[in-house]
Amino acid sequence: MSDPRAIYLKDYQVPTYQIEQTELRFDLSSEATRVRARLCVQRDDTTSVSEPLVLDGEALTLISVAIDGRPLDAAEYDADEHSLTLHAVPDRFWLETEVEIAPASNTALEGLYQSNGMFCTQCEPEGFRRITFYPDRPDVMSRFTTTVIGDRTTLPVLLSNGNPIDQCVIDDARHYVTWEDPHPKPAYLFALVAGNLEKREDHFTTASGRDVLLQLWVETQNLNKTEFAMNALKRSMRWDEERFGREYDLDRFMIVAVDDFNMGAMENKGLNIFNSSAVLANPETTVDMMFQRIEGIVAHEYFHNWSGNRVTCRDWFQLALKEGFTVFRDQLFSSDVNSAPVKRIEDVALLRTAQFAEDSGPTAHPVRPDHFIEITNFYTLTVYEKGAEVVRMLRNLLGWEQFRQGSDLYFDRFDGQAVRVEDFIDCMAEVSGQDLTRFMLWYAQAGTPEVTATSAYDADARCLTLSLSQRTPPTPGQTEKEPLQIPVAMGLVGADGKDLPLIMNGESLGTSTVLVMTDAEHRFVFENLDAAPVPSLLRGFSAPVKLHHALSDEQLAFLMRHDSDGFNRWDAGQQLALSELERLMAAWHADEPLVVGDRLIDTMRALITEPADDKAVLAEMLRLPSEAFIAEQQAEVHIDAIHHARRAATRALGEALYDEFAALYDRERSDAPYSPHFEQIAQRSLKNVALGYLCATGRPDALALAQAQFDDNANMTDVRAALTQLAHADDTALGEPAVRAFGERWAHDPLVMDQWFATQVSRPQPDALERVRFLMGHEAFSIKNPNRVRALIGTFVNQNLVNFHREDGQGYRLLADVVIELNRLNPDIAARMVLPLTRFRRLDPVRRAAMRGELERIRGESLSRSVFEVVEKALA
Ligand code: ARG
Ligand code: ZN
Repeated sequence: MSDPRAIYLKDYQVPTYQIEQTELRFDLSSEATRVRARLCVQRDDTTSVSEPLVLDGEALTLISVAIDGRPLDAAEYDADEHSLTLHAVPDRFWLETEVEIAPASNTALEGLYQSNGMFCTQCEPEGFRRITFYPDRPDVMSRFTTTVIGDRTTLPVLLSNGNPIDQCVIDDARHYVTWEDPHPKPAYLFALVAGNLEKREDHFTTASGRDVLLQLWVETQNLNKTEFAMNALKRSMRWDEERFGREYDLDRFMIVAVDDFNMGAMENKGLNIFNSSAVLANPETTVDMMFQRIEGIVAHEYFHNWSGNRVTCRDWFQLALKEGFTVFRDQLFSSDVNSAPVKRIEDVALLRTAQFAEDSGPTAHPVRPDHFIEITNFYTLTVYEKGAEVVRMLRNLLGWEQFRQGSDLYFDRFDGQAVRVEDFIDCMAEVSGQDLTRFMLWYAQAGTPEVTATSAYDADARCLTLSLSQRTPPTPGQTEKEPLQIPVAMGLVGADGKDLPLIMNGESLGTSTVLVMTDAEHRFVFENLDAAPVPSLLRGFSAPVKLHHALSDEQLAFLMRHDSDGFNRWDAGQQLALSELERLMAAWHADEPLVVGDRLIDTMRALITEPADDKAVLAEMLRLPSEAFIAEQQAEVHIDAIHHARRAATRALGEALYDEFAALYDRERSDAPYSPHFEQIAQRSLKNVALGYLCATGRPDALALAQAQFDDNANMTDVRAALTQLAHADDTALGEPAVRAFGERWAHDPLVMDQWFATQVSRPQPDALERVRFLMGHEAFSIKNPNRVRALIGTFVNQNLVNFHREDGQGYRLLADVVIELNRLNPDIAARMVLPLTRFRRLDPVRRAAMRGELERIRGESLSRSVFEVVEKALA
């Protein structure tokens, strides 16, 4: 492909034609599906009569074009690779086109494609243009009526958005169903599903008393995995009414599970389509973490019905308008129905490893990018997760009451419209009276701001001066940065471990407050303090920044025990562990023995033996910082040092606290029937953390415990935790047979086989890479299925850092081989998979050169726009 051109936000122009009505007719067939579109086209008032009508279209075979029933001959239109152009059209007319497409050979999984024989669609962001010629942009909204014609035996179920209004048998072979969606929508929310599916059905009564039919459609063998998602859906519907005052607006809501899917799920109006891994669950096949992820995704897609569908985006630069807000909403939901501090800990851990890495690398971009080559590359952690943090900061600045008022105003004022980020922020400014001009910079500036805090206590004046400064490092294309508006939630912890009253300028602020930074530097003076307190800053991680607050190990240990903020208690523990790990890394570099200090061991012992109020938090506190998090803290990254330091620490803790961990393991065992309730999840999590430390010692009695847990076969969470310990042990005597048994038992279930792949290729021993190559030839693996690719290749490159970054460059080579193949099959997935290869800046020269070399090799290929954009940025 010759240099694809970038598209800029500043070049936005209003649509010249609107589509009042969209009537589609699909005649389904694997190799030659016919799509007829009747569009009621209306020229915009501001458009000149000479303006041509330009429709988007990709990979379509044009059969015919007609205006108001009159067929056009080829001289009357221009059709090229990407568009259909009609000159001199009436003000208002019916345009009819017919095209042919080939769903079975669509491996990109955008537009209409097939998965296990079933037909399904993915249109966001620009897939609809692979279905028919259309103005494929979110600010063109239309009423859709869709007729789906299919084979009666192989495609008994025919679905689209809205309500079924007509259905009939056509002949011996075929039948059809016509669907009508009363809500005008952009084309990216269109969906069609056809297949041999079965359903779980339920009902929901809305707050105003309307009955909604709920259906979850799956392949027959998956019916026993639908109960959890259905209940999660009902919880989400109730929650959105209670928390945000949002009620569902159609008579039915359908979810379909699909095996081949690029992302997690899609919020098509009334017909959500889900990656089967994001919806199917039962205790025998699914681990606790996945139950929670599924609950969050079901909620996320459902919440989009308002934040995304009723109020949508003007253009794709505004993607975070719907995604940031909706992620914030799903986070709030999950924290309301589960352990709130643990939900926060998990979200921040993801942000501080993966999103911070993105923000400091070559593909860094603002929450609202101002240009792109391929928009599918911008469904990123920055848009989603940092976008959610930005919305959370608004909540922190305004408080919940005003935030909710702003949300109500936004939904009320912009219902049925396609709008911009500014429209959302304006509502928040209006209800609160706050000036949010500077706040808008969060959407425009890339990079993670660094906040440095120092404090000085003056015993004579009995006051503490807290100095806060901020700086955002340069990112590609943005060298100068301005100060941002940053809410810093904080408190001061007294010697007795209790929060002290905060008094500033004689005014009492309670025991926890939000300081607001708007300048590069600030000083805050707290009065009436009898002794120097320990400041607890950025409580609940109130802003997505890197905080530099030089606390001693004593102070960290103190906050870890006493901070009233659960998140900060955990974070203090992580900082404390990090400082110990950094000592071990230094020892590794100096070729000295890796000896773990007593402080870490003693704090861990105290955690285990003292009674815990929240077991879920305790389990998190017992985990050492992940390798990816440690790497993110280093100016120069030495993967081997990180890996060996962390392994040594885990083993030393296991040895030193063997009896305590064994007692903890026993204490948290339970015979209660499995439930995905968070209290049970916390218990299993705690038990399996203990098992991990025990097995890290390599002692036979520890591995025997894992073997017994594996054989016990109580639920997948415990089986998988045990299998991981067995398969990751140096001694393969128990691991090999367990891996084999598990693989045979679950050969029929692809979602379990994904876990089987992931467990094997995350093995830290040096044979992991050969294992990946070997498993790529396994019959359960297919490079065409994104879940398989993520489980096998994604797990290896993202979670087995020491083997991916092998000094001989074989890990990089393997990834590049995969990316080159995927580039031809599925550009979206290829462009995601290549990302770890682009993060070479802070590595040593040997690895840097090897990674660049593989990127150059990829660049030598004929690249899709998606992969081109990422590789160009990395090599720039
Ligand atoms: N809007 C969907 C969600 O976040 C994601 C769809 C992304 N699709 C894609 N091809 N990138 O729920
Ligand atoms: Zn979303």
